[in-house]
Amino acid sequence: MKKYFITGGCGFIGSNFVHYILRGKQDALVINLDKLTYAGNLKNLEQFENDERYIFYHGDICDQQIVRKIFVDHKPDYLINFAAESHVDRSIGKPDDFIQTDIFGAFTLLETAREHNIDRFIQISTDEVYGSIEKGSFSETDPLMPRNPYSASKAGADRLAYSYFATYDLPVIITRASNNFGPYQFPEKLIPLFVTNAMENEKLPIYGDGKNIRDWLYVSDHCAAIQYIADNGVIGEIYNIGGGNELTNLEITDIILEETNKPNSLKKFVQDRLGHDRRYSLNCDKLIALGWQPKHNFSQAMQSTINWYRDNEQWWKPLKSGEYLEYYKQNYKGL
Ligand SMILES: NC(=O)c1ccc[n+]([C@@H]2O[C@H](COP(=O)([O-])OP(=O)(O)OC[C@H]3O[C@@H](n4cnc5c(N)ncnc54)[C@H](O)[C@@H]3O)[C@@H](O)[C@H]2O)c1
Repeated sequence: MKKYFITGGCGFIGSNFVHYILRGKQDALVINLDKLTYAGNLKNLEQFENDERYIFYHGDICDQQIVRKIFVDHKPDYLINFAAESHVDRSIGKPDDFIQTDIFGAFTLLETAREHNIDRFIQISTDEVYGSIEKGSFSETDPLMPRNPYSASKAGADRLAYSYFATYDLPVIITRASNNFGPYQFPEKLIPLFVTNAMENEKLPIYGDGKNIRDWLYVSDHCAAIQYIADNGVIGEIYNIGGGNELTNLEITDIILEETNKPNSLKKFVQDRLGHDRRYSLNCDKLIALGWQPKHNFSQAMQSTINWYRDNEQWWKPLKSGEYLEYYKQNYKGL
């Protein structure tokens, strides 16, 4: 039986990963450590609450006591570090938590893993560590040029994790994925924000000229890639994980308006994000050579994502209130 120590498992990608493992493997144990910030939601995993293959710890990855307790009590085979502050806009407004969780939290996990046996330490990094690229695509050996506090804190954790492989032989693998979409994504990120705003006949706030390009990866493809890399990846290596679906934000907006049958008049151009990276693009030849590539068709995955938000209003409606509304008004002034 494989034991997975997952951090940030109540967030978007982490919870999809827990679903992916527990649906696909009868003989797995998942131990999830999550601080339950605004982005962590127990509802994402409520169907596993009474499943003996799932154990939840409410706590902070910066707290070495709880991290150590999990190592001692459960002796995990894999540690997969999803936990992070993950929203670029929030990092621009208030970077503090990003430095604490993304860097110091990763440090705490690495230090504790070093005291114990672990088969794999997977650090979930991001394509944003490379910075922006006008033409061509980033390979794993390209220099890192993060340009906002989120991507800089992720770059710090990425390189710190590598240093624990190079210095202490910790079996670290680093993944750098492109923009994910799918169910359970907090409705502050582009796709769920626009889908849910369209459903509520609210404006879709498009930054700048809307021509920033992202490569979109369906979250279940991302989960499959992480699992594949944990089982087959080479220790000490970095793997880019891209979806191969580069689209401008305007193109994404048009797809959402068409699929939700809403008018163009819902589009609203707003002041651009500070230091907004123009284009992200990944070369994924290394992962393809290892034997993995995404399986989902982009249009179908978008359709089923939109359907999920349509069918799960009770999941996202409560999230778009209170503190969220205050933040939203601050971020998109004039809407
Ligand atoms: N979303 C994307 O498109 C994307 C793309 C590439 C990489 N990533 C990376 O994947 C990981 C997951 O991203 P996501 O979009 O699911 O993020 P998310 O914001 O939806 O979830 C983050 C989770 O981490 C938890 N958390 C935050 N601080 C914590 C702490 N100190 N201790 C324990 N738990 C804590 C939160 O409660 C939440 O459950 C992040 O490391 C992110 O950098 C995300």
